[in-house]
Amino acid sequence: MKTLIIYASKYGCTEDCAKYLKSKMQGETMLVDINKQAKQIELGGFDTVIIGGSVYVGKVAKKLRAFCQGNLDGLSDKRLGIFFCCGRPQEMDEVLAANFPAGLVKAAMIIKSFGSEARLAKMTFFDKTILNAVTKGDYSSFKISNDSMDEFIKALAP
Ligand SMILES: Cc1cc2nc3c(=O)[nH]c(=O)nc-3n(C[C@H](O)[C@H](O)[C@H](O)COP(=O)(O)O)c2cc1C
Repeated sequence: MKTLIIYASKYGCTEDCAKYLKSKMQGETMLVDINKQAKQIELGGFDTVIIGGSVYVGKVAKKLRAFCQGNLDGLSDKRLGIFFCCGRPQEMDEVLAANFPAGLVKAAMIIKSFGSEARLAKMTFFDKTILNAVTKGDYSSFKISNDSMDEFIKALAP
């Protein structure tokens, strides 16, 4: 099995999840940070593709959205998984509808939220202010679930 994980992360939470998946998945696994990737991403040769993004005010990174929109056919042929890092997993259906083509959502074998982290020390003042206003300073629910990541891997296994 050859897997490609394409992700976008602002403060590193999604990146760490992508790295966790890579460390646990069977076979060869490649990571691509779409915000750092200048070359075109080649999907050929991969049987499994994972798309991972974090959610900011209802949206995942623009480059990730554009990639999914532009590669709908290529992605739909794969064993496809989509994951999110987000503080409000209960809004996942709205996030999916606002960010990904319906065909891609339908093609996915698994779609899961892994939870979230609030990396306040790294955050811009602006982001911290927004997050603080929304959470009222309570970050107790901001956690990543290893169980969710393990379930995700299991669901994609051939
Ligand atoms: C300014 C800001 C806005 C956010 N907006 C949302 C949101 O709309 N929905 C949500 O579920 N989580 C939201 N979050 C939580 C992030 O998705 C979460 O912290 C995630 O783990 C960040 O991952 P990253 O470090 O990979 O970017 C927001 C966080 C910040 C700082």
